[in-house]
Amino acid sequence: MTNSLPTSLPLSKLVTEMQESATLKMAKMARELKAQGKDVIDLSLGEPDFDTPVHIKEAAKKALDDGYTKYTPVNGLLELRQAIVNKLARENDLHYTVNQIVVSNGAKQSVYNLCMALLDPGDEVILPAPYWVSYAEIVKMAGGVPVIANSSIEQDFKSTPEEIEALITDRTKFILYSSPCNPSGSVFSFDELQALALMLQAHEHVLVVSDEIYEHINFTDRHYTIASMEGMKDRTVIINGMSKGYAMTGWRLGYIAGPDWVADACTKIQGQVTSGASSFGQKAAAVALESDHTPTKDMVKAFHQRRDLIINLLEQIPLLLVNRPQGAFYIFPDVSAYFGRTSTGGYHVKDADDMSLYLLAEARVSTVSGVAFGNEKCIRLSYATSDEKLKDAAERISKALSILI
Ligand SMILES: Cc1ncc(COP(=O)(O)O)c(C=O)c1O
Repeated sequence: MTNSLPTSLPLSKLVTEMQESATLKMAKMARELKAQGKDVIDLSLGEPDFDTPVHIKEAAKKALDDGYTKYTPVNGLLELRQAIVNKLARENDLHYTVNQIVVSNGAKQSVYNLCMALLDPGDEVILPAPYWVSYAEIVKMAGGVPVIANSSIEQDFKSTPEEIEALITDRTKFILYSSPCNPSGSVFSFDELQALALMLQAHEHVLVVSDEIYEHINFTDRHYTIASMEGMKDRTVIINGMSKGYAMTGWRLGYIAGPDWVADACTKIQGQVTSGASSFGQKAAAVALESDHTPTKDMVKAFHQRRDLIINLLEQIPLLLVNRPQGAFYIFPDVSAYFGRTSTGGYHVKDADDMSLYLLAEARVSTVSGVAFGNEKCIRLSYATSDEKLKDAAERISKALSILI
């Protein structure tokens, strides 16, 4: 009798049914091609190409030297929670207590904590599409049911209150969106948020989870949050973090601000999963929030210029429908006019997934299909890269699309 061990055992149903993050997958494919010596321009990444400002790095080094190397309270160092309370008062005119803040290992974990804390099997979460890739998977991980509100480029990818209201049932727990939005870059205006809040007055059992991680990368006059609309603060959980506005993606620091009962529940979940975020990172985050924001403003200025550059270049491509994002660092063009075409080299593009793979193969430009974001007609391009690379990428995309006939 042979006694060979199996090379693998069955995985859980949960992980087997889970989608791999499409953005991470495309970034990995681009990295692999680059490692093979291929000249790939990576526009699939969801992070600023800038380095963390020096004074924030110095604060982390000092914290290490000062002995901040131990566990912190699960919901975060008091000093950082106070800095977040100050930030919300200063920038958003919102007044929270330190107990209403929970610092996490990134906004992604905040989404996870919230879904685990609020959802029972079968509970519904309304996701206005296009939505950030991880929302739907995390909702499902927690046993919830994502309910998608579709939108199109013609409405600037913003679902109306009526479209959202039509999806509300007794099982709806919350509405979850990002503004500025990943992937569309769309930003809800004051009037649009007010209209949403007004509609929700008739649906008291529904909370709002407002992901504001791109708050600072906003090209409109200012950032608005639904938490400041009348009657909404006690029904809203704000998600935010250090990744985008402070170029700190690798530091893994996010937070929520919300009602005490939600904050307590998230702390309970996090206490059993990861505990508090990195101690010296939290010290540096407090410095980042409290110090001069010139590096953030300079970064946003660069993103604004690059947005105009990429829009001008993409608008010259026939059949491409280009949106005019007001925030974040993504553009989400509608490529559906090319569906059903075949390249002169024999590559058939039937949908957005194919388009993204085609552009990687033919143009050596990495993008992400809109399908993972709940939109079947678009692809997402990140313009968090240099002007030269953006010009080169637009030229390559234009050429690859021109041979689809
Ligand atoms: C809308 C949105 N929310 C949350 C996150 C996650 O941010 P963090 O790096 O803080 O986990 C991202 C990152 O891409 C995002 O785009």
